[in-house]
Amino acid sequence: MTIIIIRTILGASEKECRMYICLCNGYRDAEIREVAESGVRCVREVYLTLGNGPCCGTCLDCAQDIVDDVHGVASAAPAAEEPAGQDDEAPLMAAE
Ligand code: FES
Repeated sequence: MTIIIIRTILGASEKECRMYICLCNGYRDAEIREVAESGVRCVREVYLTLGNGPCCGTCLDCAQDIVDDVHGVASAAPAAEEPAGQDDEAPLMAAE
């Protein structure tokens, strides 16, 4: 996922940092956060509130993370690992 960070040159500070989340629509993190803070929990609804729905969808996971952060939702747990020592391709034994 590509994230572009643009800082304003004049008096640049962390608060002035603008991060584009959706390159198709030009939506920034602050815009997504603002809509989420109004009570919207679905990222597609956030996009429609901002004007357009998602196009390619590449940004949706990142945008959903912002929405979840606003609403205090914990991020998804990492996928469980497969148990070690399980070999699906065991060698075939010749019948006698
Ligand atoms: S980058 Fe957001 S819809 Fe394509």
